[in-house]
Amino acid sequence: MGSARVFLFCSILAIFLNSVLGANKTRHFKWEVEYMHFAPDCVEGVVMGINGQFPGPTIRARAGDTIHVELTNKLPTEGVVIHWHGIRQIGTPWADGTASISQCAINPGETFVYRFQVDKAGTYFYHGHYGMQRSAGLYGSLIVEVGEREKEPFQYDGEFNLLLSDWWHKSSHEQEVDLSSNPMRWIGEPQTLLINGRGQYNCSLAAHFSNSSGSQCKLRGSEQCAPKILHVLPNKTYRLRIASSTALASLNLAIGNHKMVVVEADGNYLEPFSVSNMDIYSGESYSVLFTTNQEPSKNYWISISVRGREPKTPQALTILNYIPTSASKLPNLPPPVAPLWDDYGSSRSFSSKILALKGSPKPPKKHDRRIILLNTQNLIDGYTKWAINNVSLVLPATPYLGSIRYGLNNAFDHKHPPENFRPDYDVSKPAPNQNSTYGSGVYMLNFNTTVDVILQNANALKANVSEIHPWHLHGHDFWVLGYGEGRFMEKDEMKFNMKNPPLRNTAVIFPYGWTALRFVADNPGVWAFHCHIEPHLHMGMGVVFAEGVHHVKKIPNEALGCGLTGKMLMNNVHN
Ligand code: C2O
Ligand code: CU
Repeated sequence: MGSARVFLFCSILAIFLNSVLGANKTRHFKWEVEYMHFAPDCVEGVVMGINGQFPGPTIRARAGDTIHVELTNKLPTEGVVIHWHGIRQIGTPWADGTASISQCAINPGETFVYRFQVDKAGTYFYHGHYGMQRSAGLYGSLIVEVGEREKEPFQYDGEFNLLLSDWWHKSSHEQEVDLSSNPMRWIGEPQTLLINGRGQYNCSLAAHFSNSSGSQCKLRGSEQCAPKILHVLPNKTYRLRIASSTALASLNLAIGNHKMVVVEADGNYLEPFSVSNMDIYSGESYSVLFTTNQEPSKNYWISISVRGREPKTPQALTILNYIPTSASKLPNLPPPVAPLWDDYGSSRSFSSKILALKGSPKPPKKHDRRIILLNTQNLIDGYTKWAINNVSLVLPATPYLGSIRYGLNNAFDHKHPPENFRPDYDVSKPAPNQNSTYGSGVYMLNFNTTVDVILQNANALKANVSEIHPWHLHGHDFWVLGYGEGRFMEKDEMKFNMKNPPLRNTAVIFPYGWTALRFVADNPGVWAFHCHIEPHLHMGMGVVFAEGVHHVKKIPNEALGCGLTGKMLMNNVHN
């Protein structure tokens, strides 16, 4: 056995021992979601916070633990749900936190209990999954450490956590109305990029440290927007956990003068590789290791920049501070420069380096079904939408999980959504017919079968425009078998990486390109699969998968208490 295999074997054994010996804990949280005044980028606005905090509290647990969150909705007039991004919810599909899919939105004043196991160590996060509540700031970190008797396949002396997001001064409600208008009003680029919920709008980081009374950052400045500095000791190795909850922006991270070794992606170990900067798409998470081997009398920039869209948002910066150098000493070099926004060559090259650690689970050799999903921007009665195989997703009033489990016939479209698109469709040009239709159909997957999904990008409404879309799958990890340019052809299958494809829950499609994924439909439930760009999802860019739903037991009533399932339950009670 190779060392990685021994490692995997030991991890499985440790999980088993932990549960037999009762080392696994249940971690209890009582959360209240509410709007609050906050100045994430030194400009006061309204954010959706949890227990008075923005971002929400960080959950830390060990693999095998059970998380128990009692979530009370204190929003005055809107429902809420929280999705645990990257947690597969094996055996608890009703706790996935997707409005209209796994549960009803929690009404104002009501409490819902999320109870689920975190079975796999890794860097995760959680966020709102109703309307555009992620854009409103409803998110936080979820970090799962290895079980007590387990070891990570790498070593480090300390760790930091960066939750990245983007921020608009316009409220998420106004953004929703803008996007759903005819003609559509685009929300534009974010005003500020946030690191752990903090950024600086229109004021330099330097001003934060200066004592000059004229500094506008100080004037408006509160503790709320002060950057979180990373304090390190020389000659140590640190783990940096990174997750992106952005609504729109694709990001690039760099640490001035320091190399980073990428070791984890979306809760799965990677074959380590070294980079000087890295791309992070919305919905992705990573761990990197860096060693503090630079001149210790200096400090260094940590920068986050926009990629994939014309950069109209300034870099977010914070400081890597070598103790005992003063933390307010600014680095003497300028901040790192990210690759050009449209340098997709560098994006592709980064993606191609992401490979599974030796000994990781391999994909099944063959697929049972292949679903090809064409991503297009369309018009429906003059409204701008995104559509998948010409269907733009609209979520039904009744959550799918309950309606499929109990066989309700009128809860959603029973027409099966298309498996493919027209062979004569030219992905390099705007569609000759830009019209599309709404749909709420479900891809019914046979339980325990292997499914390939080919995500096919195309030209958007305007000529010569094709955007990046990071697709995220709920309830599973998938293997990323490959990326390609142009239209996917059957012969491209020959180029799939069957040797060491990474397991992930989010994968990007590059402009005009395709991405091939494979997963096993072995988790009974109903699962969203969608573009993680919040406005795109809002405009219909997603599909729904269901598998083994008849195996799902005991869906809590609160998850069913709306739409037709709610009515059905009430009837059962009264009859
Ligand atoms: Cu993080 Cu369905 O999303
Ligand atoms: Cu998208």
